[in-house]
Amino acid sequence: MSKITIIGAGSVGATIAYTMVVNGTASEIVMIDINGEKSLGEALDIRQGTPFCAPVSIYAGSYEDAKDSDIVILTSGVARKPGQTRLDLAQTNVNITKTIIPQLVKYAPDAIYIVVANPVDILTYQFCKTSGLPEHHIIGSGTILDTARLRSRLSEYYNINQQNVHAYVFGEHGDTSFVPWSLANISNIPITQYRACLKEDKEVLSPELVYEEVETYIRKSGGKIIQRKGATFYAVAASVVHICKCIFSATDTTLTVSSMMHGEYGIEDVCLSTLTVVGREGIKGKLVAPLNEQEQALLKKSADSLKDVIKNLDI
Ligand code: 2OP
Repeated sequence: MSKITIIGAGSVGATIAYTMVVNGTASEIVMIDINGEKSLGEALDIRQGTPFCAPVSIYAGSYEDAKDSDIVILTSGVARKPGQTRLDLAQTNVNITKTIIPQLVKYAPDAIYIVVANPVDILTYQFCKTSGLPEHHIIGSGTILDTARLRSRLSEYYNINQQNVHAYVFGEHGDTSFVPWSLANISNIPITQYRACLKEDKEVLSPELVYEEVETYIRKSGGKIIQRKGATFYAVAASVVHICKCIFSATDTTLTVSSMMHGEYGIEDVCLSTLTVVGREGIKGKLVAPLNEQEQALLKKSADSLKDVIKNLDI
C-alpha cells in the first residue's frame, strides 16, 4: 500500500497523477487544488481509465486527506510564461508555498516531500528552512529533468540507447546549470573518447560533439517548449514518477535532485542538484564525485546566483 498526495492539479500535477496510474506507482492518489472543481475533474478523468491499470484509488481531496501519505508532491504555483525565467516567479510562488506548508506539515508530517514547482531550488530551500521537517525528507526535482534531457539528447546524437548514457546536469534547475563533462560516459567509455572508439563509419554513427551546443540546448529547451505549446509537463511528470519509484524501491538510486548543501564542494546553505542517493527514507546522502576545477567553479557560480535571489526574498 502506498499513498501519494499531489498538490496542484494543473498540467504538471495532473500529468504526474496520470503517469502514476498508468505505471501503477501508488495504490492511493489524492489530488488537491485551490480550484476544487479542477482537481475533481482531473481525478475523475484519470479514474475512468483505471479499469485498464493496476488497482488504484484516485480522488480529489482537501489538505486533511494528505494524512498518512508516503509522499507529497508540490506542483502548485504560477507557471512560467513564454520569455519568463524560473527566477522571475520566485516571490509569487514563495508566497503560495508559504500558505501551503503549515497545512501539509499538520496533516502529513512524516511524508517525503518532492518539490516540483519553480523556481524549484528556491522553493526547496524555503521548505527546508520553514517547514520544520527533517531535511532528508525534502527533495527538489532539481535537475533530474535537465539530466533526462541531456541523456535523451546524447542518445540521439550517438544513436545509442538512453540507458547506456551516463551523464548529468548539476547546479540550479535554470540558467546557471551545467554539465560536468568529466563524469559523462557511454557504457563506461568517457564521452571524450567514445567517438574514437567507434570501429565503423564515424561520420554516420556520430558527429563530433559540440559540448556548448548540447548544454545550451538543455538549458533552453524548457523555455523553447513553453514557447511552442505553452507549458512543459510530460518529461517532468516522468521524472517525478521516477523519483517516487526510487523512494519505494528496496535499493537506493543515485539521482540529480535538489537538496540542502552542507559543505559539499565547499557550498552550504543553498539547495541545488548534485549526485544524490535516494531511497526509502528520502535523501540518504550526497556523492561528492570528483569534479575538475572549472566544474567546481561552475557549481559555486550556480550556488552564488541562487543565494543572490534568496537574499532578496521574503521566505
Ligand atoms: C522545465 O524546465 C518549466 O522548469 C520547467 O520544463
